[in-house]
Amino acid sequence: MIKNINVKGLIAIVVSATMLFAVLNANAADPKAMHPERNNYKSAGIFGKWDIPSLQRGFQVYQEVCAACHSLDLIAFRSLSDIGYNEDEIKAIAIEYEYETIDGDGEETFRPGIPADYFPAPFANEAAARAANNGALPPDFSTLVKAREHLGFFSSTYGEDYIVALMKGYEEEVPASAPLGFELPEGAYYNHYIEGNAIAMAAPLYDDMVEYADGTPATIHQMAYDVATFMAWASDPTMQERKQMGLKVMLFMFFFVILLYFTNKRVWAKVKKGEDIDPSKI
Ligand code: HEC
Repeated sequence: MIKNINVKGLIAIVVSATMLFAVLNANAADPKAMHPERNNYKSAGIFGKWDIPSLQRGFQVYQEVCAACHSLDLIAFRSLSDIGYNEDEIKAIAIEYEYETIDGDGEETFRPGIPADYFPAPFANEAAARAANNGALPPDFSTLVKAREHLGFFSSTYGEDYIVALMKGYEEEVPASAPLGFELPEGAYYNHYIEGNAIAMAAPLYDDMVEYADGTPATIHQMAYDVATFMAWASDPTMQERKQMGLKVMLFMFFFVILLYFTNKRVWAKVKKGEDIDPSKI
């Protein structure tokens, strides 16, 4: 019996299995960072649709809080039609922003924004952004939700959940659960959900920081959830169209397969019955 076991083969299988496990699990969260809990979003699943009231509230949180430090380079005002604003509302939003331009005399001047403009960055460049933030760079929001998404085989982190958890994951002092000898670097704050547990951004939200137009109570969780929804849209503005197109394609495929099944049956019927086929009649 023993003779039949191929030791080299066995080693190869064990090594491959270990490597496969390591590769599949490579996306699992850093052991120090806690795993964000899953929230419910209307946009989840194959029938997912954008939650327009939440998106509009999230946009308000972005404008009133996060936009002081975080840019949104890839989004133009006209795209806000996706989140339920009409042309006049978009014009009114754009006009609140100023853009540098050159006038007829060659002088630098400012003009109000138009729907075709992109959200202006809060800082002139990276150096200015770092100078204002203790050396740290606030990342652009356009693709951040996708960038923080890790879809692993054994555990997944969704970008929206990470944002919500991060907003709520601050501690005023290093908690007892931190590893022995853990020290916060200068200018950093303790957060359970960031890798390494130290982040250069102070907790940006506190209760009732914004006043929602629709009267929703502005708890930290609500604002975090809404701004995460807004950031998820910014990262993937065509999500809804893509899912709807996917459903149509699946539906088409379903009927097409049925059609093909009966066509196939009919085409081969004579052969199956063993009838002679006259090639001139095919
Ligand atoms: C006063 C400036 C400031 C404001 C306001 C601010 N942030 Fe930040 N944010 C930063 C800085 C600086 C960093 C970089 C932190 C680092 O590198 O440790 C950052 C990083 C982040 C990150 C990235 C964390 C990671 O995984 O790398 C997220 C997400 C984030 N901020 C979300 C928000 C949201 C949402 C708001 C609004 C509710 C907001 N921030 C408001 C300064 C700010």
